[in-house]
Amino acid sequence: MSDKNPVTQPLERLDPDPVRQFRQWLQDAKQVGMAQPYAMTLATAGGDNMPSARIVLLRGIDDSGFVFFTNYDSLKGQHLQQNPFAALLFYWPELSRQVRIVGAVEQLDAEASDRYFAGRPRGHQLEAHASPQSRVISGRAELIERFEAVSHEYEGKDVPRPANWGGYRLVPDAFEFWREGENRLHDRWRYRRDRQHNWVIEQLAP
Ligand SMILES: Cc1cc2nc3c(=O)[nH]c(=O)nc-3n(C[C@H](O)[C@H](O)[C@H](O)COP(=O)(O)O)c2cc1C
Repeated sequence: MSDKNPVTQPLERLDPDPVRQFRQWLQDAKQVGMAQPYAMTLATAGGDNMPSARIVLLRGIDDSGFVFFTNYDSLKGQHLQQNPFAALLFYWPELSRQVRIVGAVEQLDAEASDRYFAGRPRGHQLEAHASPQSRVISGRAELIERFEAVSHEYEGKDVPRPANWGGYRLVPDAFEFWREGENRLHDRWRYRRDRQHNWVIEQLAP
């Protein structure tokens, strides 16, 4: 077992609830001082079936799932509209651990997105208005011009959430927790739902 792993955790000691297990590993990642423990790869595929992956930040875990925020008109936003399923991937190299999560993705309700947006730094709020995320632009100068225009527009006023910017929640259908082992004998623990919707934990070959 890798020295980097603070715990040895046989299958039977995994938390029966994968979200609680995830929170534990996230806590471990924070404890070892990782720079970006909340960074996760989000993989989507739209109507053309071509997958696309990018990093987004996990901004919360609520009762139903994993929340992140973005531009609804971006490539990922278009993909999720065409095909509302996605995969999340966390990799915490300091712990030699990875977590894969798949599930359906839904938009957060407007109030929750408003609340989150209202708490963002003003510069980030203005950027959400200024940047047509994932569209072709003529160059950085255009972006700065757009930023200055919205800064001027909202001078002395609160910045409202753009209608095309907000949260998504991935509702997990399955998890896989991976941990490095000696001689490549890694641990892979999968959580999937049975017919009664209860979580079943299985070990997979590495
Ligand atoms: C560490 C890191 C964190 C990021 N967090 C976010 C985020 O929370 N939301 C977001 O829309 N983009 C975030 N990005 C930018 C995305 O990776 C991506 O460039 C952008 O969302 C456009 O992706 P798309 O064209 O596939 O829609 C982040 C990038 C990095 C490297």
